Amino acid sequence: MRFSKRMDRFGESIFTQLLEVKRQRTEAGEFVVDLSVGTPNIPPADHIRDALSQGIDDGTQYIYAINDKENLLEAVAKWYKKRYGVDLDPKTEICSLLGSQEGLAHIALCVVDEGEVVLVPDPCYPVFADGPLLAGADVHYMPQKKEHNYIIQLKAIPEEVIKRAKMILVSYPNNPTTAIAPDSFYKDLITFAKQHDLIVVHDNAYSELVFDGKKVGSFLAYEGAKEVGVEFNSLSKTYGMAGARIGFCVGNDAVVSRMKRLKSNIDYGMFLPVQKAAIAAITGDQRCIATTRSIYQSRRDVLCEGFTRIGWAMDKPEATMFIWANIPAHYHTSSEFAMDLVKKAGLIVTPGSAFGPSGEGYVRLALVQDEEVLKQAIKAVDESGILKAV
Ligand SMILES: Cc1ncc(COP(=O)(O)O)c(C=O)c1O
Repeated sequence: MRFSKRMDRFGESIFTQLLEVKRQRTEAGEFVVDLSVGTPNIPPADHIRDALSQGIDDGTQYIYAINDKENLLEAVAKWYKKRYGVDLDPKTEICSLLGSQEGLAHIALCVVDEGEVVLVPDPCYPVFADGPLLAGADVHYMPQKKEHNYIIQLKAIPEEVIKRAKMILVSYPNNPTTAIAPDSFYKDLITFAKQHDLIVVHDNAYSELVFDGKKVGSFLAYEGAKEVGVEFNSLSKTYGMAGARIGFCVGNDAVVSRMKRLKSNIDYGMFLPVQKAAIAAITGDQRCIATTRSIYQSRRDVLCEGFTRIGWAMDKPEATMFIWANIPAHYHTSSEFAMDLVKKAGLIVTPGSAFGPSGEGYVRLALVQDEEVLKQAIKAVDESGILKAV
């Protein structure tokens, strides 16, 4: 058998090893808590599930959707206007995605040719780099460092890299660092994109998971944004719909039209009941978002306060459903610490290095378990003794 060289760009991940230890512990009946993958355990509100069930009960809804239905596109336009103050033309500026991950995997195919450069945050949600790699592009990592509040330093990107670059991916509130970007970053980004003829992709998966009364908006609300790029949005975390795959690519019509064209060659559109559930989510009662946000905020407090108390200091994040924590000083790498955490305490976290080179020295904990389980995890880590240098 002969395979593509493309696949050589993708390695086996540390997750395979972590999951193997998880399997062994589970089989042995030992304690395991998985905080590695950001899969929400908070179900969608009743009105969203009702819309989905009605669609499922209707035998006519199982045909290929082919396109986004008009009422879905109109609902997205209304949602963006109401929530973010952004005007979108339903016909030309909105494209649904089978989860924003799918769109992030494919967008580079619309924008770059082989050997061109995509600028990607480091650390980042892995598909930000994998999508461009699939397209044969070269990835240039833009470090997000603590000394800059994890904000990309556009001025630090080398001139010769910028000349070969066509697309820049950014995302705040950020996974995994949890940072929020100031207005000045977005304004500089738009100027930078215009200056260097770059297409901007902003991923806004966590705009609703911002804590302590703070609020963020949309990249597209900044002047000139729509001239240079698009925003990805997702219903996975905001409405707990992660498994009912739906996200959106919205903004610049030239980019959106190419996404639509590419997708028309790849898939047959989104399951109609999911389109209905999405309409119910974004046009229905929005109080469910505040409930979800407060659940994540309480979990954040339990974990950060609990771990800090037992000697693993953690700053409380301002946003997202993650904690980005330094590894204890007596560990050399995030993988080594993550392996010890699962082997000795049954706690599974993601090593920071899985998100890019600048993620080394950190691990990411996802707030995807109930508070009681989080307390058990803190106790297990405390009793394992791994926080103390030997
Ligand atoms: C930054 C970011 N973008 C996109 C996604 C994927 O969202 P979706 O479920 O819409 O594919 C995630 C999921 O964890 C994420 O963290």
